[in-house]
Amino acid sequence: MFDPERKAESLAMDRVRRSLAEAERVVVLTGAGVSVESGVPTFRGEEGLWRSHRPEQLATPAAFARDPRLVWEWYAWRRERVGGCRPNAAHRALARWALSRPGVLIVTQNVDGLHGDAAIEAAGDRAPETAAWPIELHGSLFRVRCTGCGERRPHVAPIDTGSRASLPRCPDCGALLRPDVVWFGEPLEDRTIGRALAAARGCDACLVVGTSAIVHPAASVAVEAAHGGAVLVEVNPDPTPLSPLAGVSLRATAATAVPRLLGGPNEAGPA
Ligand code: APR
Repeated sequence: MFDPERKAESLAMDRVRRSLAEAERVVVLTGAGVSVESGVPTFRGEEGLWRSHRPEQLATPAAFARDPRLVWEWYAWRRERVGGCRPNAAHRALARWALSRPGVLIVTQNVDGLHGDAAIEAAGDRAPETAAWPIELHGSLFRVRCTGCGERRPHVAPIDTGSRASLPRCPDCGALLRPDVVWFGEPLEDRTIGRALAAARGCDACLVVGTSAIVHPAASVAVEAAHGGAVLVEVNPDPTPLSPLAGVSLRATAATAVPRLLGGPNEAGPA
């Protein structure tokens, strides 16, 4: 039985596949939606983190200065929540794709580390710092930064939030360590956002997966790509402020649509 909706969808998928296959330089911008099918909560959805937590109480420099124990308690809970999650088919398809062809840059707003996990899985025994390694615009739950000397280091050990004295401290200078994530009111690292925006301005296609596109400068990565003439493809069950700029908006979930676009294990995708 002819189903016009399915026909339109498959035509859109074919168009996107062709655009991605023909693009020399592709920037992929992801948000919390790419990790939903790994079990990681979003920020603004029905079950979103900002529905049950006040960001200004937990994700600002002032909150940390006021009560570092409470802030670490929340980040320790988020680490635990995310720690058991694994990359889903979208993370894996993106990592394999970035490894299999030149000119792909993955830029994520997520701090869950799942794109990095997928890059390590895809790289096998090659160095994980490969082409599949993402630019983490907002930092990582699994890295800390010293509030004294600024030193950054990976950190996955459990956090003892029993008292202020038991919070993690810098082995070099003894100052309190904080989560190495970008808090509201803080600027992104110039080098990090600068690299992402430069790539966006010069790309031929920008694949935007699972972001509400309301937080800047992260969302500007996609806007700059579109303004630079790139084809913008959006994968999101819901419309966003980027939808009017998108050549194609696939109203689908990441783990369903991304492998089909990029040639997941069971799908023919772009070369
Ligand atoms: N597949 C794809 N997209 C999905 C899925 C899914 N399975 N489920 C939900 N989405 C979409 C939602 O429709 C929404 O547009 O993912 C988006 C998630 O939006 P947010 O929760 O706002 O997350 P994000 O866009 O990443 O937030 C940006 O805001 O609070 C800050 O620093 C935080 O990095 C975060 C930034």
